[in-house]
Amino acid sequence: MPVLETSAVRKSFSIPGQPPVEVLKGVDLAVSAGERVAILGRSGAGKSTLLHILGGLLKPTSGRVIRPRDIGLVFQSYHLMPELTVLENVLLPAMARRCDMAAATRRARELVDAVGLSARAAHLPSELSGGERQRVALARALETGPKLVLADEPTGNLDAMTGAGILEMLTGLSKGETALVMVTHSLDAAAVCDRTLSLEDGVLRERPLA
Ligand SMILES: Nc1ncnc2c1ncn2[C@@H]1O[C@H](COP(=O)(O)OP(=O)(O)OP(=O)(O)O)[C@@H](O)[C@H]1O
Ligand SMILES: [Mg+2]
Repeated sequence: MPVLETSAVRKSFSIPGQPPVEVLKGVDLAVSAGERVAILGRSGAGKSTLLHILGGLLKPTSGRVIRPRDIGLVFQSYHLMPELTVLENVLLPAMARRCDMAAATRRARELVDAVGLSARAAHLPSELSGGERQRVALARALETGPKLVLADEPTGNLDAMTGAGILEMLTGLSKGETALVMVTHSLDAAAVCDRTLSLEDGVLRERPLA
């Protein structure tokens, strides 16, 4: 059973007085439990649009998406809460679900530590660099131990060494049966996934790396 499945997903944006922008033209995708999928594609191909549709943040014009309830999202532009500290941002999904907060706080501290930011736990996002914010967003996505993580260029702002550490975290997820769909421009990042797809002309195609 796939953990995520789409069939014939289409998306076009209508702007008054302009021809509609057809971005997705029939996306079929099935991701199994624990599977790691990389999505490549040129800028403007529709990768972020697709990821937002997969995550339920954007409605497709037509087509069907079956997704698990619990999804961790790492956005291209982070979307951290500016008035919350690093630790509070990571705890946010747990707060929203009214989990056992003592256990959630322990896990949040572990995750903040794992992304190398324990010394910054009490800082606000505005006091962090782009790559540090990206790492907070990643820790937040993992806080509830979701079945599926959707990540939009999660290593886009990181140096090679930090990026490698983050990739290791992301790809190590599958040990806990968490599936990963990662949009990336990096072939190194794609290489650690089980499967690489390319979004071209509004559809997904298999893209062997070798
Ligand atoms: N709300 C919107 N209204 C109109 N057009 C939009 C809207 N959102 C996205 N688009 C268009 O859809 C296309 C795909 O955008 P998207 O952000 O998905 O690209 P992307 O593949 O993620 O690019 P990048 O690699 O630069 O992040 C672009 O041409 C963009 O202008
Ligand atoms: Mg994008």
